[in-house]
Amino acid sequence: MDKSKNLLVIAHAPSENTHTLLDAVMRGANNPDVEGVVPLHIPPLLATAEDVLAADAIILGTTENLGYMSGALKDFFDRIYYPCLELKQGLPCATYIRAGNDGTGTRRAIDTILTGLRWRQVQEPIICKGDFLPSFIDRCEELGLTMAASLEAGII
Ligand SMILES: Cc1cc2nc3c(=O)[nH]c(=O)nc-3n(C[C@H](O)[C@H](O)[C@H](O)COP(=O)(O)O)c2cc1C
Repeated sequence: MDKSKNLLVIAHAPSENTHTLLDAVMRGANNPDVEGVVPLHIPPLLATAEDVLAADAIILGTTENLGYMSGALKDFFDRIYYPCLELKQGLPCATYIRAGNDGTGTRRAIDTILTGLRWRQVQEPIICKGDFLPSFIDRCEELGLTMAASLEAGII
């Protein structure tokens, strides 16, 4: 029987820098030391409720646009909210946000939706704001690794 767990990454990556962050998350999630976890990235506009229903944990990534999450991630939540509401309560999740200079509006909006869905944020959101720094890449790789390793260990 296949006992692997699914780590879903729903990330909007419209720029080179956000691609770099997504690559870092996936590199961490695919760390060869972690076995038994299958990471999968799906862009938010392509992700469906079935993808969420199949997930054992989820990482959400977005830009901040006009003080809010990207329209793409909001569209994802709009489509999956009711189909997943009863079935995925407690889903472990974590978020990273790339923002030009703020990120707080996006964090607040995501917090509100995750509270409604009753998903469980297992770590503080990562806000990569201001000039793009190499440390953002490290933090995103660590996020992917931590989520995958925690899922494998059964501690989230
Ligand atoms: C239309 C638009 C609106 C934006 N609004 C915000 C905003 O409200 N707050 C913020 O911190 N950054 C804002 N940004 C900056 C983006 O978050 C940032 O450019 C994006 O995350 C991509 O990062 P990069 O420029 O490093 O590739 C905005 C960018 C665009 C294109």
